[in-house]
Amino acid sequence: MNKAKIILVKNAEEIGGRAADIFADTMRKKPNCILGLATGSTPLPLYRELIARYRRGEMDFSGVHTVNLDEYLGLAPEDSQSYSHFMKTNLFDFVNIKKENILLLNGLAENVEKECRHYENTIEEWGGIDLQLIGIGHNGHIGFNEPSKEFIVETHLIKLAQDTRKMNSRLFNSESEVPRAAMTMGCGNIFAAKKILLLATGRNKSEILERALFGTVTPRVPASILQLHPDVTVIADADTGEKLKRHMLPN
Ligand code: GLP
Repeated sequence: MNKAKIILVKNAEEIGGRAADIFADTMRKKPNCILGLATGSTPLPLYRELIARYRRGEMDFSGVHTVNLDEYLGLAPEDSQSYSHFMKTNLFDFVNIKKENILLLNGLAENVEKECRHYENTIEEWGGIDLQLIGIGHNGHIGFNEPSKEFIVETHLIKLAQDTRKMNSRLFNSESEVPRAAMTMGCGNIFAAKKILLLATGRNKSEILERALFGTVTPRVPASILQLHPDVTVIADADTGEKLKRHMLPN
């Protein structure tokens, strides 16, 4: 039986609200917490809700530090397709997070290995991630940890899987524009977070979500490592979570 707390809600907007409650709780308990953030379509309702609560004076990001899961290799932070740009335009520009408290991987780093080590060292110096937000890729990837023969622990350079590039090409003009590699926190970095919040939307993720949460723990489905973590909350909409119901005890 999976130990994760699984919450199924009506739709993506409701996921945003429930996830924002968890962020608010973490920030209330520890105003100088380290938040691990994610990109993709899934977290957008959450970011909208965080901005709305900040504007209503309900949330304060002044003491918060943030780190992100991953970044495309070769894209400048200002590039509109970069994850740095995504974070800026979907969250950072609209709340009172201090610039110096934001840690992002630089897609143009000259020395990728050095960039990855600096990233991990900074997270450690800051005291480790309190709450890590993640989505799930169609092939079970978390961050950009693609299915492979082993779980990669550290922040590293990764060649993107062809299906990932195809899937992510919806946000580019064409598939050929999607970078072939990325830097990503390793499964070990994600696993080291004190609390993990996995959000999932869309019926086409229903099968991979079930395999990740209730299938064999294997690096072929990187998200399956979450089964071993002591504090995971999963929030999915009813369609995506449909296949999870058969594993869940009735309330
Ligand atoms: C990218 C990111 C992942 C994200 C995934 C799913 O590949 N590297 O962190 O979880 O996309 O994105 P979406 O939420 O758009 O389905």
